[in-house]
Formats: sequence, structure tokens, C-alpha cells
Amino acid sequence: MSQSKTLKKTNKDLSLVSGAKYISKNRFDGKVAVITGSSYGIGYSIAERLGLEGCKVVICSRKQENVDVALSKLKKQNIQAAGVQCHISNANDREKLYKKALEEFGGINIFVSNVGVNPKICPVLECQESEWDKTFDVNLKSPYLLAKEILPYIKRNNNGGKMLFISSISAFGNITEFGAYSVSKCALNALTKLIAGQLAEDNIQVNCIAPGLVDTPFADAIFKTARFYEQTINSTPMRRYAEPHEIAGVAAFLVSDDASYITGEIIVAAGGMSSRL
Ligand SMILES: NC(=O)c1ccc[n+]([C@@H]2O[C@H](COP(=O)([O-])OP(=O)(O)OC[C@H]3O[C@@H](n4cnc5c(N)ncnc54)[C@H](OP(=O)(O)O)[C@@H]3O)[C@@H](O)[C@H]2O)c1
Repeated sequence: MSQSKTLKKTNKDLSLVSGAKYISKNRFDGKVAVITGSSYGIGYSIAERLGLEGCKVVICSRKQENVDVALSKLKKQNIQAAGVQCHISNANDREKLYKKALEEFGGINIFVSNVGVNPKICPVLECQESEWDKTFDVNLKSPYLLAKEILPYIKRNNNGGKMLFISSISAFGNITEFGAYSVSKCALNALTKLIAGQLAEDNIQVNCIAPGLVDTPFADAIFKTARFYEQTINSTPMRRYAEPHEIAGVAAFLVSDDASYITGEIIVAAGGMSSRL
């Protein structure tokens, strides 16, 4: 058994996180969502949740084979889904992504910017320039550019729309080893608020989720390092990590009409971890 599996067994009362029980089948009828970084992990869970609630979903990731596997899992659940290979930092790939949504489903109502990377786990002053550049390129610049590229299509609907950015609890500067990554996520929080302000009168709500530790491949470095894992769980009042669907549930709420009067918010889903800057 891998160390990661051993650590997972320490999660408290898994019956509490067994999955969403009350999924509406039609909350997103007639809506199209583009979700970045969605072949596995949190992005996939968001695509699955929106799809199960009637949304047409367009997914992407760097590797076509991962997109294909995800698409087949979604389609097996009768979700209307399309997908493309897209590296979020590549302008041509980004164009391929939103054009796929337009070609397959005729428009875009919801944009979920989920991709995020942390090329080096180290305190901020130990980060190399190339690592800093990659972090800010993928976590901040590319989400910003794609939001601007997709915006005209959301506006074209004339009935508003939604944008959602996936940040991190580390944006609040509380995890020393997540140096540059935390700074990029903090900037993403500010970007959320600024875009939200600019689009408020267009009836486009723009929000952000700051997750704590979630069981995905991204978090493997934490799950596989006992010191990191214990530090993280000990600073989480709920004393457990999240399953991806727990973030997807929050995302589904924020991009639904149930959240029609919420904009510019950073919603922390981190088991009670401190979120003061
Ligand atoms: N997991 C956590 O504990 C945690 C906590 C706080 C915040 N977050 C944030 O939540 C978001 C999702 O994290 P996750 O844990 O689900 O990550 P993950 O397990 O690494 O999954 C990332 C997804 O994005 C794709 N991807 C990676 N780089 C990409 C790129 N440059 N362009 C397009 N697609 C790309 C991956 O597929 P390919 O490999 O095929 O590209 C995969 O589908 C990130 O923004 C992360 O910062 C995660």
C-alpha cells in the first residue's frame, strides 16, 4: 500500500463525504460551460457535477488521451460533453477551446478557470525566475487572457453569465512552502474582484473558490510527505481533507442562478482553515 493510501485512511468519517445526495437534474438546462483543466481532479468533478445538472460541458487538458478518458466517463453518465487538448498558456489552444464550445453547443454561458500549477514547493525567496514565470503564466496570466477571450461570447447571450476562478487557501499566505504559488493565487483573488466590479452591470457574476487540501494528483506532494500532510491536517479545524466533489458542489452553486446576487466573492472551502490575509 502506498504511503498516500495510508494517509488517506486517516481522513475522518468518510461517510460525511460520500457524494452529493440532492443533485437537481435540470438546474443548468440550456447552459454551456467551459471548464479548464478538467480531465481529472477538481476540474473534472466540476464538469461532472454541472453535466449531471443538465449543463453542456466543454473540457480540456494538456493531453488528448486524458481528455478522451474524461469524455468517455462523462458520456457514460449521459452528460452532453465535448473536449479538446488545450495548454492554457498557448493562445492557439485557448482559441481551439472556446471555438469547440461554439461549434458543438452554439454559445458559452459559464466559464470556470480551474487550471493551476505549483512547479516548485519552496518558500517564496527560494523560487527561481523560471519557476516564478511558469507559476504566474499558468495561474494568473492565462486565466486572465482566456476570461477576456470568452467574455464577448458570454455577453452575446444578453442574459448575463458566470465566471468562476479556482484559487487556493494558500492565497492567504498561510503555507510557507507554497511561496510563489500562493502569491499567484492571491493575485487571482484580486483579479476576481476587479473583473466582478467591471461586469456587475452586465449581470455577469464573477466569483472564486479558495479550496483547502483536496484529494487530487495535484496534492500528491502533500499526501506523500508526512510532515506536510500532518501540518496541513493539523491546521484544518475539521481535521480532514476534501473530496473533489465537495469543491464541485460549491462551484455548481456559484455558477447557478441560486447565486444570482453574489459577485466578487472569494468563497473559502477549506474545512475551517484560517483565511485572513
Ligand atoms: N488539490 C488541492 O489540494 C488544491 C487545493 C487548493 C487549490 N487547488 C487548485 O485547484 C485547481 C485544480 O487543482 P487539482 O488539484 O484538481 O489539480 P490536478 O489534480 O493537477 O488536475 C489538473 C487538471 O488540469 C489539467 N492541466 C494541468 N495543467 C494544464 C495546463 N497548463 N493547461 C490545461 N490543462 C492543464 C490536468 O490534465 P493534464 O495533465 O492532461 O494536462 C488536469 O485535468 C488548481 O487551480 C489548484 O491550484 C487545488
